[in-house]
Amino acid sequence: MPPKLLVIAIAIILYAITFPFAYADSETEARKLINSQGCKACHTLDGNGGVIAGSFEAMRDKLTRAQVRSQLVNPERKHGNDKIPDFSHLSENEIDVLVNFIQPKP
Ligand code: HEC
Repeated sequence: MPPKLLVIAIAIILYAITFPFAYADSETEARKLINSQGCKACHTLDGNGGVIAGSFEAMRDKLTRAQVRSQLVNPERKHGNDKIPDFSHLSENEIDVLVNFIQPKP
């Protein structure tokens, strides 16, 4: 195998090995944020939480990533059709973690 291909093959294997851990970390982080920000006062996750707003599982089938993001950070600083204050105090990374978790599809 030419050295260049070998390097590419090793890179792919390393990526494949570490990717699940990276994903698991961000899922753990997302679950922590959902708890610490009190999202479950109104939304359900894994069947636990409030019924004022929809479940996070249902959002997966209906919202794009951009729609999820715009719920959390928007110029009006509002969340949930003006019913809830927004979450723009979260860092860009925390928003990314939540968006990735709520809508993992690209
Ligand atoms: C005090 C109640 C409350 C809290 C806390 C809350 N939400 Fe919401 N959320 C709502 C309401 C109400 C809506 C609007 C639901 C609708 O329009 O059907 C909403 C809508 C959303 C939507 C859009 C859903 C859709 O179907 O259009 C997302 C995404 C979302 N919330 C994420 C979050 C996240 C993430 C958190 C925590 C960081 C959070 N929410 C905390 C009440 C809340």
